[in-house]
Amino acid sequence: MSETTTPIVTIASIGQYEGQTVTLRGWLYNIRSSGKLLFPTFRDGTGTIQGIVPKAAVPEQVFETLKGLQLESSLTVTGKVRADSRAPSGYELDVENVEVISAVSAEEPFPITLKEHGVDFLMEHRHLWLRTPRQSAILRVRASIMRAASEFFDTDGFIRTDPPILTPNACEGTSELFEMDYFDNDKAYLTQSGQLYIEATALALGKVYSFGPTFRAEKSKTRRHLTEFWMIEPEVAYLELDGLMDLAEGFISHIVTRVLEQHRADLKVIGRDVAKLEAIIARGPNGERVPFPRLAYDDAHVMLEKAYAEGKIENPHKYGDDFGSPDETYISSQFDKPVMVHRYPAAIKAFYMQPDPADPTKALCVDVLAPEGYGEIIGGSQRVDSYDLLKQRIEDHDLPLAAFQWYLDLRKYGSVPHSGFGMGIERAVAWICGLDHVRETIPFARTLNRIYP
Ligand code: 4AD
Ligand code: MG
Repeated sequence: MSETTTPIVTIASIGQYEGQTVTLRGWLYNIRSSGKLLFPTFRDGTGTIQGIVPKAAVPEQVFETLKGLQLESSLTVTGKVRADSRAPSGYELDVENVEVISAVSAEEPFPITLKEHGVDFLMEHRHLWLRTPRQSAILRVRASIMRAASEFFDTDGFIRTDPPILTPNACEGTSELFEMDYFDNDKAYLTQSGQLYIEATALALGKVYSFGPTFRAEKSKTRRHLTEFWMIEPEVAYLELDGLMDLAEGFISHIVTRVLEQHRADLKVIGRDVAKLEAIIARGPNGERVPFPRLAYDDAHVMLEKAYAEGKIENPHKYGDDFGSPDETYISSQFDKPVMVHRYPAAIKAFYMQPDPADPTKALCVDVLAPEGYGEIIGGSQRVDSYDLLKQRIEDHDLPLAAFQWYLDLRKYGSVPHSGFGMGIERAVAWICGLDHVRETIPFARTLNRIYP
């Protein structure tokens, strides 16, 4: 038993203990030596800190233990906290004692070293890769994005209602469904979105949201697609498209505000240019809120035609088609803030979207495109509220009417205009952290080619 009464602290809070002797519980992240001096770096999940171990100043056994220790061995360290302006965390630890909890064998050293590894190798070792400072920082930011997202709705009268994950029908098209047997002769599908179910809870409770895992059997290998991802979806009775866009704008602004408040140090570890994030919430000269740009599909098309004529994009955009990712990148590059593209052609959007009364070939929908080429982070719409039109749409899309009878009931009993959207957490994390690929935004990414570890 150790007889010390030193406080056990975290690296993140170590600044409060300057000049005191404290104990950290963590792992050996790195170690350098220069003759009679060792410079171990410790990590504990909240950050990293460098220790100083002069041979002359510590018991012989402490020096020898650390010197022979493999990276990622677990240990507790006792030492005195010293402010050091050159240290990334602002502090260093004058090590007095160490206790090894579990030593990594020299025969099988930790596979991830500080040198560069290929992405395939890292993904194969994702369970260990998570320990590196950058990956840990991303997961901390992810957690705060999720917390801020729920907080936004929780503090604005929304009720969280959790939809089922096993469903009898498709929500977002039938080509990307994970199908399974559900007992005798029945099929079930992993949910693609909680939307249809929270339309029911919205008509019960007014303002609701859902937050959970969603699944798409995406056959595409892109930097934006996972087969399992987390979506947060608000749904509001009596809300129309303009109000929905206001909601999306407030929601994104809140999340970015919280991340900037809480994660400057993590964003630095990740290498994010925070000025780009500050621009999202930047106010006007008189402190007024500056709205996100709103762009009709038709106007976005004109913008792309002009860009093509000027040689700024490689391929022309065909009117009526969805935007390709170079198109989205170009559109978003025209603005500092996320851009809300609304009123896409109904033909390329989901069956449940309300037609625009001013032009029924268009849907009352919105895609929010993140800046810097991150593409769509939010998709949403006003929903069809007429029973007859919705039934027609289900039939036109060759969807099984029986499975949607309950959904049609919502239009039979007190139907009202209502709207909602979904934001994919991983897309939001990729954008906010400035990452190349969504695979680093979730602890264990599920993609077309990977379901291990
Ligand atoms: O645009 P989507 O398909 O919309 C819906 O699912 C609606 N039912 C949501 C609603 O109105 N309640 O998906 C919404 C968001 C996208 O904008 C994107 O952020 C994310 O979900 N998303 C994906 N994220 C990662 N991998 C995928 N394969 C994704 N597919 C969609
Ligand atoms: Mg979409």
